[in-house]
Amino acid sequence: METPPLLPRVEQTIFDGQPAWIKRPEETRSSRFVILHKILQHIMPKVLHPTGALGGMDAIRQEAKRLEIFDAASLPVPKVLALTEGSVVLSDTGKQLRGVLLGMADAQLKFAMLERAMRGLVAVHAAGLSHGRPFLRDMTVDADDTLHFLDLEEDPTARMTLEDAQARDVWLLLSSCTEFCEEPFKDLNHLLDIYFSECQGDISVNLSALGRALRPYRRIISVLRVKDVSKDVTGAYWSVRVLEDL
Ligand SMILES: Nc1ncnc2c1ncn2[C@@H]1O[C@H](COP(=O)(O)OP(=O)(O)O)[C@@H](O)[C@H]1O
Ligand SMILES: [Mg+2]
Repeated sequence: METPPLLPRVEQTIFDGQPAWIKRPEETRSSRFVILHKILQHIMPKVLHPTGALGGMDAIRQEAKRLEIFDAASLPVPKVLALTEGSVVLSDTGKQLRGVLLGMADAQLKFAMLERAMRGLVAVHAAGLSHGRPFLRDMTVDADDTLHFLDLEEDPTARMTLEDAQARDVWLLLSSCTEFCEEPFKDLNHLLDIYFSECQGDISVNLSALGRALRPYRRIISVLRVKDVSKDVTGAYWSVRVLEDL
């Protein structure tokens, strides 16, 4: 008998006549992966612990719950339209922000988008929450030009304090913004200044501790001269370089 083709993990659909997205569980991670996570937890500071959900329907249920918490705090996220045994259906929140930025030519307009993404994260933190993976590819911009956050599968506060989780959010957003910065050091510092001047909570201690914890990795990137091999390495390099100065 032929095995049926695997359904895509995330798929655009129509629900009740409206554009929507259906998200299905990722395969549960292999035990080798789980063991690697456990080993890493002994040698890395808590804030650098892997926060990846273990996959499966539990991760989808956790994401639906977190989406509802964000929605109740008036944060812009997709609505949970349905939660079944095997998937969640979410309202459509527009175009992926990274894709939008890749299609924009004007450097100033692009940077204004990054500022808005940082202000969006400030709003999440002001509500006493953390995101978990605030990458530009996990944000969307809708027809009304509102920025939304997606992909809340990972809850970092399950592994670390809220302040460490928020510091980690800032670091991840800075690294994700780097590819769109003409002068990464200056531009990321500017984004960080927005965070500090607009966010009520004080996570500067957590951010500078994160910079110190990551410094050895940044130095390895320097010594090996691999800073520019990929956008991810460049993002990791500059985001840490900026946090080191705190
Ligand atoms: N509600 C939504 N509205 C608009 N786009 C979405 C929505 N949900 C998912 N997407 C698109 O699908 C992609 C993958 O969804 P995501 O929730 O990030 O899953 P994954 O865990 O696979 O990264 C997103 O980057 C986005 O482009
Ligand atoms: Mg995603």
